[in-house]
Amino acid sequence: MSCDKELTLHNEGDIEKFIEQLPSALFGDKIELCQWEGVWCWPTTIKAAMKFKATFKTDPNDVLLASAMKTGTTWLKAICVCIMRGNKEEEDLLIKDIPHFHVPTIEIGNSFTNIPIDHLYTMPSPRLFHTHLPYRVLPDSIKNSDNCKIIYIARNPMDTLISMWHFFNNMKRVENFFPLEKVVECFCNGVHPYGPFFEHVLEYWEESKQRPQKILFLKYEDLKIDPKKEVEKIALFLGKPFGNEEDLEKVLWRCSLERLKSLEVNKSGSLLTNVPNSSFFRKGVVGDWKNYLTPEMEEKLEKITSMKLQGSGLEL
Ligand code: A3P
Repeated sequence: MSCDKELTLHNEGDIEKFIEQLPSALFGDKIELCQWEGVWCWPTTIKAAMKFKATFKTDPNDVLLASAMKTGTTWLKAICVCIMRGNKEEEDLLIKDIPHFHVPTIEIGNSFTNIPIDHLYTMPSPRLFHTHLPYRVLPDSIKNSDNCKIIYIARNPMDTLISMWHFFNNMKRVENFFPLEKVVECFCNGVHPYGPFFEHVLEYWEESKQRPQKILFLKYEDLKIDPKKEVEKIALFLGKPFGNEEDLEKVLWRCSLERLKSLEVNKSGSLLTNVPNSSFFRKGVVGDWKNYLTPEMEEKLEKITSMKLQGSGLEL
C-alpha cells in the first residue's frame, strides 16, 4: 500500500509544526520528549507513529509484538522469529542479525536505523513486526481486525525502570549519566519514552481479557520461571505448535540470553545509531532492582504500582 497517499492530507511541514506545539518535558533531566495522544516520546518517533496510525492497513496474517521499553522485547522477538521464520539448522536467522533486524519496531523506522520504514508495507506475509506504542494509538485497521494477532510482554515496573536506566546510561557511555532519582521521578510521573508505563500495560491487559484470541498477554517473569510453558503458549497462539520436544528445546536455547549474548553480531554490531547491540543483553535477572533502588525509591514505586494496578486483576 502507499503510505504517501494519506500523508498528502498533512504534508511533512504541517506535521513538524504540529509536533513543535506539543507539550514537552525532560526525561532524566536530559532527553527532550513530547506528548502526543497521552504518550511521551521523541519528536521523530511521534512523526513515524502518526504516519503509521494514519496509513497502515493490516493483513489478516500480520503478527504484531508490543511492549513498553525494557520489558523483554528482544527476547520475545527472537522467540517469534524462530517460531515463524523457521527453526532448522540452516535457517538460524539469529546468528547473522540481532532480533530487532528481523522484527522492525515500526515507529523507530529510518530515524534510528537503516531499515527503511516502507519495508513494513512491503514485507512478505505473514508480517512480523513490533511496536512500543500504547494500544490506543494503534491504527484502527489493527484494532478492528479479528485476525491480526498481538503478543504483548509486560515486566515488573522496578526491573523495567532499572533496565531502562542502564540502557540510557549505556547509550551515553557514562555511568550515572542519568541521575537515578530523576529517572524514578520521571517514571512515576509517566514522563519517559513511551510512558506512562502503567497505562501502557493496563490498556493491553484489558484488551487481552476482552479478546484473548487476538491478544496474548505475557509476563517477562513467567518466561523466566517456565520458559517451556510460555514458549509453547506463544507457538500455539501463532497457530504453529511444536511437533516435538526437540524443536521446542532448540528455540529455548537459540533465544536464551546466554546464547544471544555470545553471538558476534550482538557483541560487536550496532543496528540502531549510537546503540551497541550488546546493550540489549544485560543481566536478565528478576529482582535486579534490589541492587539499585533506595528504600525510599522502592516505597514510592510500590505505592504507585499498587495504586495503578488496583482492581485490574494484574500483578507485576
Ligand atoms: P536487564 O537490563 O534487566 O538485564 P528489551 O529487550 O525490551 O529492551 O529488554 C531488555 C531486557 O531484557 C534486559 O534486561 C535484557 O538483559 C533482557 N533480555 C534480553 N534478551 C534476553 C533473553 N534472551 N532472555 C532473557 N532476558 C533477556
